Amino acid sequence: MALRIVATQPHPALVTLPWHQPLEEWDGPFLLQLPRGLSRHIVRFVRLEGRRYAVKETREPIAWAEYRLLRDLRRMREPAVEPVGVVTGRQTPDGEDIEPILVTRHLDRSMPYREIFSRGVRPDTTPRLVDALVVLLTRLHLAGFYWGDCSLSNTLFRRSAGEFAAYLVDAETGELHHELSKGQRTHDLDIARGNLFGEMLDLQAGGSLSEEVDALDMVDGLIERYEQLWGELTGAEDFGTAEMWRIERRIERLNDLGFDVDELDIVTDWDGASVRIQPKYVEPGHHCRRLQSLTGMDVEDNQARRLLNDLDAYAAANGLQAEDPALVAHRWLTQVYEPLVATAPPQTLSGLEPAELFHEILEHRWYLSEQAGHEVELFETARDYFARQAGSAADAETESADPVSLATPAEDSGR
Ligand SMILES: Nc1ncnc2c1ncn2[C@@H]1O[C@H](COP(=O)(O)OP(=O)(O)OP(=O)(O)O)[C@@H](O)[C@H]1O
Ligand SMILES: [Mg+2]
Repeated sequence: MALRIVATQPHPALVTLPWHQPLEEWDGPFLLQLPRGLSRHIVRFVRLEGRRYAVKETREPIAWAEYRLLRDLRRMREPAVEPVGVVTGRQTPDGEDIEPILVTRHLDRSMPYREIFSRGVRPDTTPRLVDALVVLLTRLHLAGFYWGDCSLSNTLFRRSAGEFAAYLVDAETGELHHELSKGQRTHDLDIARGNLFGEMLDLQAGGSLSEEVDALDMVDGLIERYEQLWGELTGAEDFGTAEMWRIERRIERLNDLGFDVDELDIVTDWDGASVRIQPKYVEPGHHCRRLQSLTGMDVEDNQARRLLNDLDAYAAANGLQAEDPALVAHRWLTQVYEPLVATAPPQTLSGLEPAELFHEILEHRWYLSEQAGHEVELFETARDYFARQAGSAADAETESADPVSLATPAEDSGR
């Protein structure tokens, strides 16, 4: 049987990988050791000409189904890992069949939840992870995607201005429908609830999560947050015609949650005394679209919200509110954002996205200003931030001779 590689991005170097060997036996300089969640299948990471991929050995129908679903989700701009291809027809030199492989792009700067917990977490981290999971699940449900196995293990997390942004990594059990029924959504939530509960207990048993965290409270919180968000995004609202401002208010609330309203259904009753509004189509990414249209930057929605706040503050401080927003954004980009990021030492930038770094410096300014009792200048804040970072890195080096960093993958030492 001939080896067959079906790929969305036919990267020639992919052909050079040792497809005739079981994934477990792969060895070579192309392998990367990156943090990975729990999985039934063998998953390994490779780097080919600067690009990183995740390679998963799985059964053929699963590989194809997952590949197609991930393509659909990406096309719909849902947060999911990007599929690259499926490799079938694998055989060892002795003619023994080997399972096919699904290749996805490694999600840059992402962390499996175990990795996050293994570094020790602050008490408010778990609810933030759950929040990110709720947003992901709600977005997928709005898009008509039934996950069937929502869990922390099947999700990857990225930092996003002090919060997390969640991405779907495992679509094996997923189904895409035109729309989900209440029953399908409830079923999906039940699965998420059960999975999350098990994962929390597991973390507690392994000592990575404090026993003080009530796992049951946490999973109930997931359902509650989901219902709240779903209600806000899709629920009908009735009021009298004297309260028409509520339309504007509803749109603002949705924007705050990071959604744009593409279509709002407004119905008045026969005597025109009351009004019912209901969002019909909402689109996530409100802040990132606005930032992108002003600056061309493509970042997580929370990061975009943070940068937009700073941009607004800059406009206000310089009396530019009445100017063309695109010109103001350009000035902010070239006079504040870019020069500030340019002052970062390379080792800081290799571990942190520029937008996340900017957020951290803004946070640091808040902290410094509070201590000083007056607003500390941004570039001065940055100098202090980098100096403290350099200090703590030096301390870490004396404590551990072999620091492991997420940002600097080492060669894989095998599975
Ligand atoms: N594209 C990717 N980028 C980063 N990490 C990835 C990627 N693909 C897979 N991983 C890592 O590998 C782990 C396992 O992947 P996945 O969940 O798809 O495997 P699985 O064997 O199908 O899982 P399950 O046991 O749930 O069936 C993930 O939790 C994630 O940490
Ligand atoms: Mg999985």
